[in-house]
Amino acid sequence: MTNELKGKVNYSTSGNIAILEVDNPPVNPLSSGVRAGLSEYITKANEDDSIEGIILTGAGRSFIAGADISEFGQTPDGPDLHTALKEIEYSKKPVLAAINGTALGGGLETALVCNYRMGTNKAIVGLPEVNLGLLPGAGGTQRLPRLIGPSQALKMMIAGTPLSAKKALQQGVIDAISENSLMDDAIVFLQEKIGSEVHPKVRDKNEKVLEARGDDNVLAEAKALAAKTRRGQFAPGQIIACVEAAINEDDFDIGMKKESEYFLECLMNPQREAMIHIFFGERAASKISDVPKDTPLLPIGSAGIVGSGTMGGGIAMNFANAGIPVLILDQDEKNLERGMGVIEKNYQMMVDRGRMSQEQKDVVMGLITPTLSYEDLSNVDIAVEAVYENLDLKQEIFKTLDTVTNDHAILASNTSGLDIDAIAASTNRPGKVVGTHFFSPANVMRLLEVVRGKDSSDETMATVMSIGKKMGKAAVVSLNAPGFIGNRMLAGYTHQANMLLLEGALPNQIDSALESFGMSMGPFRMLDLVGLDLGWRARKLADMETPLANKISDALCEQDRFGQKTSKGFYNYSEGSRAPNPAPENEAIYKEISDQNNIERREISDQEIIDRCILALVNEGARILEEGVAQRSGDMDIVYINGYGFPIWRGGPMFYANQLGLSEVINKMSNFSELDKNFWEPAPLLKKLADESGAFGEAPAPEDRSELLSFKMANMGGV
Ligand code: 3HC
Repeated sequence: MTNELKGKVNYSTSGNIAILEVDNPPVNPLSSGVRAGLSEYITKANEDDSIEGIILTGAGRSFIAGADISEFGQTPDGPDLHTALKEIEYSKKPVLAAINGTALGGGLETALVCNYRMGTNKAIVGLPEVNLGLLPGAGGTQRLPRLIGPSQALKMMIAGTPLSAKKALQQGVIDAISENSLMDDAIVFLQEKIGSEVHPKVRDKNEKVLEARGDDNVLAEAKALAAKTRRGQFAPGQIIACVEAAINEDDFDIGMKKESEYFLECLMNPQREAMIHIFFGERAASKISDVPKDTPLLPIGSAGIVGSGTMGGGIAMNFANAGIPVLILDQDEKNLERGMGVIEKNYQMMVDRGRMSQEQKDVVMGLITPTLSYEDLSNVDIAVEAVYENLDLKQEIFKTLDTVTNDHAILASNTSGLDIDAIAASTNRPGKVVGTHFFSPANVMRLLEVVRGKDSSDETMATVMSIGKKMGKAAVVSLNAPGFIGNRMLAGYTHQANMLLLEGALPNQIDSALESFGMSMGPFRMLDLVGLDLGWRARKLADMETPLANKISDALCEQDRFGQKTSKGFYNYSEGSRAPNPAPENEAIYKEISDQNNIERREISDQEIIDRCILALVNEGARILEEGVAQRSGDMDIVYINGYGFPIWRGGPMFYANQLGLSEVINKMSNFSELDKNFWEPAPLLKKLADESGAFGEAPAPEDRSELLSFKMANMGGV
C-alpha cells in the first residue's frame, strides 16, 4: 500500500478463502491505509478465480475500533469509508467478519456490511459514537435496526455501551461464537456457506423496521431515554431522526443519505469537538509526563482497605469489580457488618436493575473478605486507607500498615485534602505512599485523583494509574497541594454562588441557570446534599469567624437547616424525597444578612451567574496549571466532567475557556472586578496566554514555575 497512508490490511489465502487482516496498532481504527487496503484487497479477492469466500479480521486485540477519531475535523487522505464498505457489501464472493476483539463504531458498521459475523467469546460490539458527539455514520443507524429491531438498536446507540459476544449473539448482531480457534471456525463456517446461491445482506432485511412503522412508542421511548440520560446533547436527537428514516423510508439508500446529512451536522457541531477533546484528554491524563512509558508495574494481586464506611466499601467494590481480591478492615465489628451489608445491597441493586447477573454478583462478593485484624493485611500488594479526615489518625494507620504489610506493598490514602507527604513521613517507605482520592459514591463516580507526594516513586505512580484504568476510572494526577485539583477549583465556584445569593439571586435561580448551562446539579442543591453543617461545625470548632460568603449558610444552620439530612436547607424536602422545593421562609434571612453587610440586593441575570461561577473555575484552573499541580489543562477538564457534573458536551471548563477565547474570558472577568478586585485578578498565566492569543495546554516546565511552587502545606485542611 502507499506509505503516507496510515495503517494497512494484510492479505493472505487459505485454500479457496482470502483472509484480509486489518493491521493498524494498537486498536485498528479505519485510518486511510486501512480504507485503501480494504478496497484494494476486496477487489483482488473478487478478481481471483481461485477464491470463493473472504474472511475479514483484525490483528492484535481489536477487530476494528471504528473510524480514526484523529481524522475528524481534518481533511482525510485516501478513499472514503463509504466507498470501501460498498465494495465489501457488493462483493461477488461471500464475506465473513471474524470478530477477534472490539468491533466498535465504524468497526461494527464494517461487520454489518459483511454477509456473516462470527465473534470469539471475548468479542465486544457496539456503536459508541454518541460518546463523541457523533452518530454511527457508516450505515449503522440503517443496518442495526434492520438486524435487531429499531427499539433495541436505539437503546444501544443512545447508551453507546457495547454488548458482550453472548448478548450480541442473543440479539442477533452476530451469527455465531467461536469457542476455539476463531480462524479455523470461521473457515469451516464460510465453507458451508460458499455453495449457497444467495448470501444475506443486512440492508435487505426489512421485516423488523416494517414492524415498527406506525408504532409511535419506539421513537417516543428513545426520546425519553435521551432526555433522561443525555441532557443537552445534540447527537441523540440526530440518531433518533436517522432511525425514524430507517423505519419510514422504503428506499434503504434514502435512509443512508439522511444518515450522511445528519452525521455532517454532528460533525460540524461544537459538541463533537468538545467530546473528542475529552476522549483524547482522558487518554492523555493517564500518562505522567516525566514517568517513562516502560516503567515496570508492581503486580497487584490483592488489596486491603482500612475503613468500612461509605468510601471504604465503595473502594473495595472497585477492586472486586476489577477482579482483585480485597480485604476490608474495620476495628469495630458492628461497623464492619454494616459496611458489608451496604456492599451486598449495592450489588443486589445492580442485579435487580439488570446491570449484573446473580453469578457475577456471587463472584465479586466472593472477592471481598471482611476482617477485624491488621495482621490479615500482611500479604496485600496495596492498602488503601479510607477513614475520616484526621491527620493524626491517618498517620497512626500508616505507621501500623508500614509495620504489618510486606515491604513491596503500596500504601495509599483516600484523603480529600490532607498532606500526603506528612502521611508518608510516618512510614519507612515514602516512595510507596500515594494519594488515591476517590469521589463519593466511589463505586459509581469515575474520577480518581492520584496524588503524587514528593517521594512517590515512578513505579508507585505508574502502578496506581494502571489500577485506576483497570477499575474503569478516569485517573488524573495531581501534585500534593492544597485542595488538589477538583476541590481547589470548586472553592471559587461555590464562593461565587454564595456571593450571588448575598447580592440578590435566589438558590433556585442560581441552580437553574447553571443546570441550563449543563451542570448536572446546581451549587445549592449540591450543598444541601453534602450538608451545610459540615463547614459550620468546622468553623465553630476552630473558633473561626464566618467569612462573608458563608454567612447565609451558617445562619441557616443556626435554624437547624442542614440540608437534605434535616429535610430543609436552602430548599425544603418532603419526607423520603430528594426533590428540592423552594423555601420562601429563607428569603427574610437572605435579605437580613445582605442588609447587615451593606449589600444591596439586585436583579441578577442568568448570564452573570454562569459567567461568575464558571470563570471562577477557569481562573483557579489557570493557577493550578501554572503551578504545575495539574500536568495539562485537559486534566482539569477530565476532573470536572467526571467528578463535578460539568457537561461533557462543553468539553470541561478549560476547553470552554479556550473556545470562548482567553481575551474574552479576561474581558468578562474585568466586568466583575469592581465587585471583588482580588478575586477577579486574572491568573498570570491566563493574562500571558490571552496576550499571546494562546490557549491553555500543557503545564509550564518545572524550571519555569519554581517560584510558584511554594505551597503552604501547613495551611492545608480537609476540603
Ligand atoms: N481512532 C483513533 N485512535 C484511537 C481510536 C480510534 N477509533 N480508538 C483508540 N484509539 C487510540 C487511543 O487514543 C490510544 O492512543 P494513545 O495510546 O496514543 O493514547 C490507543 O488507541 C489505545 O486506546 P485505549 O487506551 O483506549 O485502549 P484500550 O485498550 O483501553 O481501549 C478501545 C480500546 C475500547 C477500542 C477504546 O480505545 C475505544 O473505546 N476507542 C474508541 C471507540 C469508538 O468510539 N469508536 C467509534 C469511532 S467514531 C466512528 O466510528 C464513526 C463512524 O460511525 C463513521
